[in-house]
Amino acid sequence: MAEAYLVVDDIFKTYPPTEKGKEKLETLNGVSLAVKKGEFVSVIGPSGCGKSTLFNIISGLERPDKGCILLDGKDITGEKGHISYMLQKDLLLPWRTVLDNCILGPELQGIPKKEAYRLALPLLKEFNLSDFASSYPAQLSGGMRQRVAFLRTVLAKKELLLLDEPFGALDAYTKSEMQDWLSGIWSKYRETVIFITHDVEEAIFLSDRVYVFSKRPALVKAEITVGLPRPRSRGEITSTAFVKLKKEMLSALLDV
Ligand SMILES: Nc1ncnc2c1ncn2[C@@H]1O[C@H](COP(=O)(O)OP(=O)(O)OP(=O)(O)O)[C@@H](O)[C@H]1O
Ligand SMILES: [Mg+2]
Repeated sequence: MAEAYLVVDDIFKTYPPTEKGKEKLETLNGVSLAVKKGEFVSVIGPSGCGKSTLFNIISGLERPDKGCILLDGKDITGEKGHISYMLQKDLLLPWRTVLDNCILGPELQGIPKKEAYRLALPLLKEFNLSDFASSYPAQLSGGMRQRVAFLRTVLAKKELLLLDEPFGALDAYTKSEMQDWLSGIWSKYRETVIFITHDVEEAIFLSDRVYVFSKRPALVKAEITVGLPRPRSRGEITSTAFVKLKKEMLSALLDV
């Protein structure tokens, strides 16, 4: 891809045996993908195939055995600090308010609290959380907690966002509300996003392109361009074009 912003080039990762006598765990088996600036790309694949491992490698938390990660043409393999990453189980600190959870990143970077609040407050409004700035996580709904975790990720202010199943644990209604909301926010800011999901409809609804991973050890089984016009409405989920994409994705997913 000529104008790729992020390139994941032929990544291999095997974990050593966790106990004596156990086998090593081949997890990624030559994964390559590319993402353009401003593109929303999803990764879908069976549970345990290595999706979160790939995010850990892109973000520099882990090193691949082989292969490299290029961001804007620069080799960042194993380097931290280039990417905003919302982990699969992104926990909020229960003893901190919403606002103080949001500013955790800047605070850890040594930015004074007052300055961090100044950065966070306009986003709280954008994320419909202004009225809850001084609430504690236990006082929020699941969807609101995910918005706080997402706001914290956005506040890291990197140009590439990795979102690992942000809506995986939500009920169907809240999940579709959050998808509509994310779609709206993304259309406004056009951040570059890679989004992990198990949900075929979610992947199609949100994405420009979708990579389908095989079962572990993961490799790219299919790359599907969504091509549906934006803004997208929920009603389109039953359209012929949507259903065709759904069939294509399911057959790639199930043929693993
Ligand atoms: N640090 C680690 N040490 C050893 N094994 C690991 C480690 N991290 C992940 N694994 C193993 O690697 C495999 C892939 O895990 P990973 O979390 O990447 O899967 P996933 O595709 O994100 O799954 P899910 O969809 O359930 O979140 C799993 O078998 C997991 O147990
Ligand atoms: Mg995972």
